[in-house]
This record gives sequence, structure tokens and C-alpha cells, in this order.
Amino acid sequence: MGSNKTLIFGHRGAAGTAPENTMVSFQAALGSGAEGIELDVQLTKDGVPVVVHDEKLNRTTDGHGWVKDFALAEIKTLDAGSWFSEGFSGERIPTLKETVHWAKATNLLLNIEFKTAYIPYKGIEKAVIDCIKAFDMENRVILSSFNHYSLIRAHEYAPNIETAVLFMEKLVSPGSYASKINARSLHPYWPIVDEVLLDETNKLKMAVRPFTVNEEAAIKQLIEKGCSAIITDFPAKAVQIRENIE
Ligand code: G3P
Ligand code: MG
Repeated sequence: MGSNKTLIFGHRGAAGTAPENTMVSFQAALGSGAEGIELDVQLTKDGVPVVVHDEKLNRTTDGHGWVKDFALAEIKTLDAGSWFSEGFSGERIPTLKETVHWAKATNLLLNIEFKTAYIPYKGIEKAVIDCIKAFDMENRVILSSFNHYSLIRAHEYAPNIETAVLFMEKLVSPGSYASKINARSLHPYWPIVDEVLLDETNKLKMAVRPFTVNEEAAIKQLIEKGCSAIITDFPAKAVQIRENIE
């Protein structure tokens, strides 16, 4: 993933302008000129990795209840677009397989986030990695999680796939911590990115990809500070801001 240019990753696709974590959102991110997309993964009752952010279906679909309590066939009947706007009605929760299959034909990088902070989803790391391997996409994927045990399990199963530490609050020597668990990069909440963090990661040549950077001034500042990437709900805007800096 080495590059001097700050890459743009569309958060949940292009969540600012399309229903998050749907194919139409990923297509919007691709159309914006972003280099990558971020997406969240959980397991259905029958163990299929699906792309959805919340543990419950309530906010982003017309369903109610926990993702983990629904089989894929039931999940696929749900409307994942209307909540955002009527023009997106009929969008579905994508499987990870559908998403990786689609991405394979593009040049996009994929940041796949294990949503294992509250529900462990036993076996999710292997299920996700098997899907990535089936499409020969190991070199285009970054696996991240707030649950760092998920990163350790992922690294043990597939040491060649990059893992990234997600975190919300300032840590002492986060780069050193990441190295200790064999993670290659940091995905911090953007307001906690400071000179101390950037000094350490520069010395370690460790990638930093802050999330979720939506304000123009913050996007500009983090690009100018040389972050490896930014993760944003508005990839088209971020690409434009980056062009104006170059
Ligand atoms: O991966 C970056 C970001 O997506 C982490 O937070 O809650 O938006 O998944 P969240
Ligand atoms: Mg996420």
C-alpha cells in the first residue's frame, strides 16, 4: 500500500450521499475517484459475512432485530435504501462475497472492518479471509477492527494480509502497540491525530488512515500532514480538495 499521495477511502462507500454499505454507495465511491472503500462486516445466523454497520437492522433497513438472529435469505428481503431516501428503495444488504466480487473488477482497495466489538461472531475472521482468498484479493485488502483480538486472529490465519488498529482515544505509542500485535497500520479517530502520533508513525514508516474525516478544513489539514489515507463519507469532495492542494 506504499504511496506518497494521500489516498481517499469512501466510508461505508459514500455514506454522505448514498445509503451506507450498499452496492450503490460503493459504486458512488468508485465514481468519485476514490482509491478505496471502507465497509463493515458481521455474520448472519447461518454464518454468512454481510456488509452492515449496526448490530441491529433497525436504523438502516425496514427490518427489526439483531443481524445475528436472521438467516441470509431473510436479510436479503430487507430494504436497505429507503431509510436514506425513497430514490434508493430496493437496495439490499450486500454479502461480503458480492462486494468483493464487484470490487475485483475495479482498482479499489478494500478496508474491511470486523464489527466484533460487542458481538464476537465466532469464526468471522476465517470466513472473511476465505472470501478474500477466493477472489485472490489479499494484496488489495486491509482488515481493521476496534476488537484487536480479531486482528490477532486474522494475522495468525493470514499473515500476508495487512491488519490495522482502529482506536478512538489517544494511546501511548500506538505504533509500537500495533507492531506488537503485527498490525501494519493505524486507523485513528481523526481528532486524535497529533504530531506525536505522526512522528512515531513516520519513524516506523507505518501507514495512518484517520476516520471519519468530513469537514473540508480537516480533510485539507490531514492531507497536508501526509496521512497515508483519509476515510470519509464524502469521497468526491475529498478527491476535489486533494486536487486543489496538488
Ligand atoms: O473504519 C473506520 C470507521 O468505520 C470506524 O467506525 O463506527 O464508522 O465503523 P465506524
Ligand atoms: Mg466502519
